[in-house]
Amino acid sequence: MTDPTWWRQAAVYQIYPRSFSDSNGDGIGDLKGITAKVPYLQALGIDAVWLSPFYPSALADGGYDVDDYRNVDPKLGTLADFDEMTAALHAAGIKLIADIVPNHSSNRHEWFKEALASPKGSAARARYIFRDGKGENGELPPADWTSVFGGPAWERTTEADGTPGQWYMHIFAKEQPDLNWDNPEVREDFLTTLKFWSDRGVDGFRIDVAHALSKDLSEPLPMTAELGVEGQLLDGSHPFWDRDEVHGIYAEWRKLFNQYTPPRTAVAEAWVHASRRARYASPDGLGQAFNFDLLQADFDAGQFRTIITKNLAEAQATGASSTWVFSNHDVVRHATRYGLPSAAEAGNIKPGLGQDGKAWLLAGGKPGEVDVELGLARARAATALLLALPGSAYLYNGEELGLQEAGEIPESERQDPAFFRNPGVDIGRDGCRVPLPWTAEGTSFGFGDGGAHLPQPEWFAEYAASAQNGVDGSTLEFYRRALELRHELQSAETQEWVTSPADVLHFTRPGGWQSVTNFSSEPVDLPAGTVVLSSAPLVGGKLPANTTAWLV
Ligand code: NOJ
Ligand code: CA
Repeated sequence: MTDPTWWRQAAVYQIYPRSFSDSNGDGIGDLKGITAKVPYLQALGIDAVWLSPFYPSALADGGYDVDDYRNVDPKLGTLADFDEMTAALHAAGIKLIADIVPNHSSNRHEWFKEALASPKGSAARARYIFRDGKGENGELPPADWTSVFGGPAWERTTEADGTPGQWYMHIFAKEQPDLNWDNPEVREDFLTTLKFWSDRGVDGFRIDVAHALSKDLSEPLPMTAELGVEGQLLDGSHPFWDRDEVHGIYAEWRKLFNQYTPPRTAVAEAWVHASRRARYASPDGLGQAFNFDLLQADFDAGQFRTIITKNLAEAQATGASSTWVFSNHDVVRHATRYGLPSAAEAGNIKPGLGQDGKAWLLAGGKPGEVDVELGLARARAATALLLALPGSAYLYNGEELGLQEAGEIPESERQDPAFFRNPGVDIGRDGCRVPLPWTAEGTSFGFGDGGAHLPQPEWFAEYAASAQNGVDGSTLEFYRRALELRHELQSAETQEWVTSPADVLHFTRPGGWQSVTNFSSEPVDLPAGTVVLSSAPLVGGKLPANTTAWLV
């Protein structure tokens, strides 16, 4: 029987399905492509896959605009393909976590179409957030709020007779209308969705923007100047970010999750103040919440030490398990971040313009803009440190290949709404979503037979899985070994710091497992013990700069 606490220290591998593996040569990764790669995932040594949205979608936001929550995008396959993939993962001992997007549907969802076709004040409109505009003829938005992707957070509708109508709220793209979570029908329908996938064998859920569902939109709506900033408020007073009532929703979900054996797990994507994160991770709620603190830090011993200490103390106090992550589909790959020109930019997780105004990602992390070698060395060191910590490790597809951000995507081929809504400011997140290189040669580097939906740069060849398979010292073999060892060495969720120089982080785990990371620019001595893993070769028995070693 499955251990019901399997998720507490799992290594979870995020698959961005449209960019993972394409089975039918249409340039888009699909579910059959994932099934075909199950042996690869098994050899990698992960415990679970987190699958980003695979539902029918016009891809206005990479699939986070869902047309139908209980189906598979025909471009990605069928429900039968989903069942086949789930069975193959389970047979390989890998759990499946599905991404669920409850804050907003797409504008192509049946409900939204019905809302647009229905009159003001109708039950169909009450599933979303519709308001009259301000101004003499309702020509101004109900509030001046901006969407996360830039531009207004309200869009005006057109009535059936062609006249301008009400406005609807969208925190993200205009193709992503926010649902009204005060509406019991919305709540009930999501329970149906969670049950639908749980019954199909999904082991857990990743909850998209978990901190935005509950809203207090009582009039008069405050203006932007009166609002706090996302992720920084301590009192739940923002009209839509991190309100206390949101936990009532997750308490309902938890009841459903606990009806399954083992209980379904959940992890919140909640960009909230660290002190409010535990509420999402409570055992009566979702159980786990992403901790993005390390992801936002520089490659710096002091910052890492403070964040790790604080998060482990918090986890211990609340009984939650910690979560660690460096890369995902929303941020610049960490092998590139850590190679950015200045320390000040290393924490810059958003693709965009450098401090000197140079578009460092437009230069593709090359040439000269990003120190690719340094970035990769630090990324490997950071990953080994992360995998030695108590709690869950979330990995993003392609990081096991040491993949760099692909910055040189022509504007005409970009897809991310963040790019289109912020001209000249934000180049968007496409650079970490480019289809993976499986082979050094061949059409689309083995991704599929028919090209790739985002262009792959030539330098992807050197990162191909086939070029690293069985190669001593390759990033892929390093990840495999680290994950294998982690399985052997992982025990109680505790960690203790060992006194070390300020730019070295040394800690032990129960059973004598030690991890040492050298953040300095000079080699340092290693403690006593047998080295079982090193993110770079030792030099004269010493731990080089930007390297992590594990000892037992
Ligand atoms: C967070 C997701 O990770 C991101 O990709 C998406 O754009 C937003 N939520 C909106 O769904
Ligand atoms: Ca395909």
